[in-house]
Amino acid sequence: MKLVSVDKLEPGMVVSENIYTVDDRLVLTKGTILDNDDIARIRSFSLYNIFVEEQKKAVKVKEEKPQSSLSYAEKLRTTEEFIKFKEHIEEHAEALEESFRMLANDSIPLDVDKLTDPVYHLFVEAGGTAGIFDMLHNLRDNSDAVFMHSLNVSLISNTIATWMRLSSDQIQLATAGGLLHDIGKMLIPSELVNKTEKLTEYEEKAMREHVVKGYELIKDKDIDPHIKNCVLMHHELRDGSGYPFHIKGSQIDEIASIVTVANIYDELTSKRTYRAPICPFAVIEQFEDEGLSKFAPDVIMTFLSNIVNTFIANRVMLNNGKVGDIVFINPEHLSKPMVKCGEEFIDLAANRNLAIVAVI
Ligand SMILES: [Fe+2]
Repeated sequence: MKLVSVDKLEPGMVVSENIYTVDDRLVLTKGTILDNDDIARIRSFSLYNIFVEEQKKAVKVKEEKPQSSLSYAEKLRTTEEFIKFKEHIEEHAEALEESFRMLANDSIPLDVDKLTDPVYHLFVEAGGTAGIFDMLHNLRDNSDAVFMHSLNVSLISNTIATWMRLSSDQIQLATAGGLLHDIGKMLIPSELVNKTEKLTEYEEKAMREHVVKGYELIKDKDIDPHIKNCVLMHHELRDGSGYPFHIKGSQIDEIASIVTVANIYDELTSKRTYRAPICPFAVIEQFEDEGLSKFAPDVIMTFLSNIVNTFIANRVMLNNGKVGDIVFINPEHLSKPMVKCGEEFIDLAANRNLAIVAVI
């Protein structure tokens, strides 16, 4: 089976899993051969992706469990689309390392279009805004190198800018700013950047210099000033608690504000050598609590209300050990959805001692 964005459904495709609405009503049964009416019906339920049969079996998948008991994430990781995306993002991260190294040595000109080109390919390959987080959330165990992080932040910044309905020029700036934001890390000793333990206070201070060093590297290049600001301001926070200049509110570049959210989300939900990935719902809860004081309101509101929807139908583990699938997002408490565990519906908003500890 393969995962297809509902935008890409075509008549003749065969549904490989029963399709349910978020409140668990059956939309179509497994084995249905889609016609135009079925496709319109699926789209009317605001579903993101569905599983359909492969036309030809391109990838042999070793199944340890019957397909029906696999979680959404487990099924996704066996699809040809995911396997290819993973392979390509790793290849692009390697190529980006080489480009960043040459930029830091000033041995190649800074060509933003050429640098960001692979990001757009990855974006299309993932199925656009509807599919990109499905891919990224399943790559959380990957390398924590600067280059994979840069690609992730670029893809997430592009998605947030698209969700905000910004112009295509602004979306391109967010994509480029996200890709280049940490270029200054090329000018920080690699022992520090690649250190496997948590940094000491002194080392943390040295690491923070990547912002100004990155800006120095690109400030005289012929690129849009917003991209330069993304490099300089991506650690600034709206309440002045960021760095390097502790600037506040609207002093922070609007495109850099997008990269800030993308950067923190990717940083926290990725594996680090000194800690496991933090559960996205814990990060969403943290953003809900302090989001409006620390981040641009339009950016954080758009990000939160859209990101939670990408988790519908995902299987999660609760802090009481129970496992269930997310069936409904509560717009008042985005980090506390309704979870269906077996036959039981658990409303996390009404059970405040319960929380999601992992997406599995
Ligand atoms: Fe940074």
